[in-house]
Amino acid sequence: MLKGKNILIGVSGSIAAYKIPYLVRLFIKEGASVKVVMTPVATDFVTPLTLSTLSNNPIGLAAYDPKDGSWNNHIEYGEWADVYLIAPASANTIAKVANGQSDNLLTCVYLAARCPVFIAPAMDLDMYKHSATQENIEKLRNRGHQIIEPTEGHLASGLCGAGRLEEPENIVERVRNFFFEKKPLKGKRFLVTAGPTYEPIDAVRFVGNFSSGKMGFAIAEEAAKRGAEVVLVAGPVSLSISDAISKRVDVTTAKQMLDVCQNYFSESDIVIGVAAVADFSPIEKKGVKLSKKGAVGSPAFSIDLLHTEDILFSLGKQKSEKQLMVGFALESENLLENAKRKLKYKNLDMIVANSANEQDSGFNSDTNRVKFVFPNEETKDSGLKSKKEIASIILDEIQILETKNSN
Ligand code: PMT
Repeated sequence: MLKGKNILIGVSGSIAAYKIPYLVRLFIKEGASVKVVMTPVATDFVTPLTLSTLSNNPIGLAAYDPKDGSWNNHIEYGEWADVYLIAPASANTIAKVANGQSDNLLTCVYLAARCPVFIAPAMDLDMYKHSATQENIEKLRNRGHQIIEPTEGHLASGLCGAGRLEEPENIVERVRNFFFEKKPLKGKRFLVTAGPTYEPIDAVRFVGNFSSGKMGFAIAEEAAKRGAEVVLVAGPVSLSISDAISKRVDVTTAKQMLDVCQNYFSESDIVIGVAAVADFSPIEKKGVKLSKKGAVGSPAFSIDLLHTEDILFSLGKQKSEKQLMVGFALESENLLENAKRKLKYKNLDMIVANSANEQDSGFNSDTNRVKFVFPNEETKDSGLKSKKEIASIILDEIQILETKNSN
């Protein structure tokens, strides 16, 4: 399966290095070419001779050999590799690569490599849980690297918990999937909005809604999984993204979301508006915190609201024949009727209608039940499913629209 692929493995100092000879063997069995670089401490856990014998290649141990001055070209390693897999990645090596340090061959190669990078952490439970390690891993994830999460179980220290290097078979599978997963949306650029927007009333209060961003994030992830380049414009939510998503832009207000969408619109092939954008925004935004003055139950003050600009409507007016636009509609009554009206008004190719009255659906739930409405008024019911499954169905529908549109 991996014939013709060059796998570079960076081994750092962790007891889990004992699994690497077997990992090398598995890659070789799959037909891959394997080279290994090791940190000095890694050689205390597993011998270079073992890895060299199994990989059929010399092992990179240091940037240069002080005995004869010969040096290992870290740039060449980076250029040779189709994938750089750092396994096991100790807390120390993770910290170094996250912060761009390059004091050994493994870390120099990391900075030089232009290929996809996989990082398989392995360490003791508390080291793994430490916020410093977690922040470093998050940095690497945000840099677009694939993190092969450690598994839970008995650790060499005698403790039990997360920190075990993923089993070699599963690591090989992750790499194999990376090369051979079907990517039907490769080359397509998506612009996805998600979450709520907050419209400030004063320095500490806002007009907002209960959107969690779960639906929009699930769609963005699914599109990225299918190979699309995704720009995710997110309102204030507490969700993180995987490294498959090309770009995330965080915004707060409807106006900021509109501006970001306008920036990315012309270079997008498909736009999906999942965000619950505020329809109204206070005319006046006080820069200070308004203080309460009256007695309990006495009138406080009223807020005058203005309609915000409709993002999808304004993008729909600029839409070219090659672009597709999908919107959502959240309705408490006349679901289909309102959805059809919004579909036409906003010049959309499909609208996903959400009933605000449906149980386990809409805001913040992990499940959703939606109806798909098309310009020819055809409708389809999704049934109650997880938001991830709904995202997958939406992407299937978009792929059908995309095929029709390009014919
Ligand atoms: O985030 P979750 O908790 O997972 O919840 C998911 C969801 C309920 C937010 C989502 O499934 C959903 O229904 N999103 C649309 C909510 C909404 O604002 O609907 P609407 O009918 O008001 O808007 C219609 C469409 O126009 C939407 O695609 C919306 O993004 C867009 N819109 C609305 C107002 C505005 N000013 N600009 C817009 O582009």
